Amino acid sequence: MGNIVVVGTQWGDEGKGKIVDLLAQDVDIIVRFQGGNNAGHTLVVDGKKYIFHLIPSGILYKNKKCAIGNGVVVDPEILLQEIKSLKEAGFEITPERLSLSEKAHLIMTYHKAIDLAREAAKGKDKLGTTGRGIGPCYEDKAARTGVRVIDLTEPKVLEEKIRSNLKEKNFYLTKFFGFEALDVGPVLDNYLHIAEEINPFISNISLELDQALKAEKRILFEGAQATHLDIDHGTYPFVTSSNPVAGQVCAGAGIGPKQLHNIFGIVKAYTTRVGSGPFVCELKDETGDYIQEKGSEFGATTGRKRRCGWLDLVMISDSIRLNGLDSLVITKLDVLTGLEKIKVCIGYQLDGKIINYVPASLSKLDRCIPIYEEMPGWKEDISLARHMEELPPNARAYLKSIEEITGIPISIISVGPGRQDTIVLS
Ligand code: GDP
Ligand code: IMO
Ligand code: MG
Repeated sequence: MGNIVVVGTQWGDEGKGKIVDLLAQDVDIIVRFQGGNNAGHTLVVDGKKYIFHLIPSGILYKNKKCAIGNGVVVDPEILLQEIKSLKEAGFEITPERLSLSEKAHLIMTYHKAIDLAREAAKGKDKLGTTGRGIGPCYEDKAARTGVRVIDLTEPKVLEEKIRSNLKEKNFYLTKFFGFEALDVGPVLDNYLHIAEEINPFISNISLELDQALKAEKRILFEGAQATHLDIDHGTYPFVTSSNPVAGQVCAGAGIGPKQLHNIFGIVKAYTTRVGSGPFVCELKDETGDYIQEKGSEFGATTGRKRRCGWLDLVMISDSIRLNGLDSLVITKLDVLTGLEKIKVCIGYQLDGKIINYVPASLSKLDRCIPIYEEMPGWKEDISLARHMEELPPNARAYLKSIEEITGIPISIISVGPGRQDTIVLS
């Protein structure tokens, strides 16, 4: 199967964490390549729930290596918290098991303050960010004023960067938003203190992966967020600040494109979105509430209620093209059990024409009316199904029509949150 990429095809929270944990059994290294602790990836193993924001979802296997690539923005306090809680749960996290790219950018105290100040100032027009400083950190990366992980090893450089950044950030925070200024001393002390614990994990991930590939080891690249939150390809500006698409693996981990072999697109059996932004198939009725409750659709990072709607195959078709997907993984099929009728969106009607792509213009997207295909639902509990034949005919028909409409195969079906609640097809 070669090296694997796992990406989200909707607006995040498709169940990437669960599928990464499942597929990690067959690889040697698991790598994050973009995003930060805006991600919340949930795994349920032996009945115990784990949520990871930064550490790759392969960490529960004691013999696997995990790496955080240069494309990730790292809040070092969150990283240390995750290491600590894993240790408390009995997992020894050593530099042999976890590496952090020296070139990754650090989320600083002022990034979080700016994220929150901006959202507060926007009021009802807010983007609904996770407030974790993701956007402001990527901005500084592009502006070439960012603080990188490697700077933690050079206190003088770290101090200079914090001083010069704070001059500008404090002006912005106090004069523009009316927020309090941040003092250099405590910010610097905090990061110097953090550096002592983080430094042993710092590494050249590109070199590490190259050596692993030469030794014929297999790698899994774990996407965070999803295709329609992509800063280039998503519903801009209601997006995150990185590129969650598969093409970003190379830039965000430091490998070449010929190393990617099998690209899995994770598709929730319906659609959810946290935060603001367009949502063509949103259900603002009791069916939406039913799915929200039955699917426990609350954000794993912020605890916000997720907006719910029918499966939108227009979005999925875009994701197949944008990521070069080899197959789809359908998750949370069990959540649809009990619905009399199930709908899937197979096209948008826009100003009297039918289109089958997501338009870039938000005003056009606002005018899109979903064209649905309606199918009968099923009542049987499917959570114990482990083979396709154990699914009721209507559930199989639902999956078959997804394959027919999208034109690509389904490789895995998830029918519950646990590692074992899975039907593996190929
Ligand atoms: P991620 O961000 O893509 O990793 O997804 P999240 O972890 O944020 O959200 C997915 C949620 O659905 C988590 O609570 C998972 O435990 C849960 N989950 C994953 N797959 C299934 C499934 O097939 N059925 C059910 N009922 N829950 C699932
Ligand atoms: P995982 O990896 C769902 C959303 C936020 C907001 C927008 C911008 O768990 O699927 P940001 O903090 O990134 O600047 O917020 O993106 N968002 C997510 N929604 N799942 C995620 O990650 C998300 N990460 C960011 O809710 O709408
Ligand atoms: Mg999530």
